[in-house]
Amino acid sequence: EDEELLFQAKIRKQQLADRLFMPGHHYQKDTIIKLADKTGDSLQLAKISAENKQAEYIVFCGVHFMAETADMLTDSSQKVILPDLRAGCSMADMATRKEADTAWEYLTDKFGHTIIPLTYVNSSAEVKAFVGRHGGATVTSSNAKKMLRWALKQKQRVLFLPDQHLGRNTAYDLGIALEDMAVWDPTMACLEGDTSRDFTMLLWKGHCSVHQNFTLSHVNYYRKTDPERQIIVHPECSWEVTQAADLAGSTSFIIDQIGKAPKGTKWAIGTEMNLVKRLMKQFPEQSIISLNSDMCPCLTMNRIDLPHLVWVLDELYKGNIMNEIKVDKNIADEATLAIERMLHL
Ligand code: 13P
Ligand code: SF4
Repeated sequence: EDEELLFQAKIRKQQLADRLFMPGHHYQKDTIIKLADKTGDSLQLAKISAENKQAEYIVFCGVHFMAETADMLTDSSQKVILPDLRAGCSMADMATRKEADTAWEYLTDKFGHTIIPLTYVNSSAEVKAFVGRHGGATVTSSNAKKMLRWALKQKQRVLFLPDQHLGRNTAYDLGIALEDMAVWDPTMACLEGDTSRDFTMLLWKGHCSVHQNFTLSHVNYYRKTDPERQIIVHPECSWEVTQAADLAGSTSFIIDQIGKAPKGTKWAIGTEMNLVKRLMKQFPEQSIISLNSDMCPCLTMNRIDLPHLVWVLDELYKGNIMNEIKVDKNIADEATLAIERMLHL
């Protein structure tokens, strides 16, 4: 059945030719990656979308916030399509615009106008608009250090949404002590810990449900049983795991490191399952395992599958645009400020 759908997808791609562009994130299933015109990490996909001015249809093989970003960066005549609208991101859902406004009111009351917001691209367009309105920018896992340095030149304090781990890991890498970081709990609308202290980093209490499955006990297990095995993780993993690992970086960084390692290198990788499995197949001369033997799939990334893809391509061929992602203009105007501050740096 898959073969038949794959064949059908290829035919539709040929028929739609240059009118269609299909970017795919590294966490997508192999079948989807094989069909994608370009693959990349979040930053690469944002740049690729911004550069493509010719395709009428961008069928985005990734999750909702990525399709929103693509819509904001492409011309208004270009249509962005997400093959399954249920392909969201649980981390992005951990910060709403209303919660961000509440946090801003509290924090600016406490710290005055000394705060600049930064949001991981894994956030809704509404949260990006909040950040754009208050002078901040978006970041991805591959430029987070550069963006945090930039932010700390503008203001004394940074509110980092929605991933506390990427925020903490990046700030720690820049020499900010853990004591100088506080966590904002959006559900309780309060700062956790000793609030009489001063802080440089105000971390939003959000996380990735996939990367939280890699724990310090997994790292310790391999350190003890297989000390030669190098441990490489995504910075959405906790600070404890990231510190204990040998290397940490974006999906592209992980791919690059594995690709350039000598034959016979042993790796335990702490990131999404589809990427780990693909690397196992791509580099059979290396010994690659997942840091967590349960493998850890991203269920929402996996919602983009052949049946949904073939359905949207069939409809496009007939002239019907299904599952279009269109960000409201007022939101897009402010969100684009935040994205462009990142792309221009
Ligand atoms: P990157 O590809 O930018 O490392 O992002 C990982 C991720 O979680 C995307 O949702
Ligand atoms: Fe969101 Fe995590 Fe899935 Fe990335 S891996 S899309 S951050 S839930």
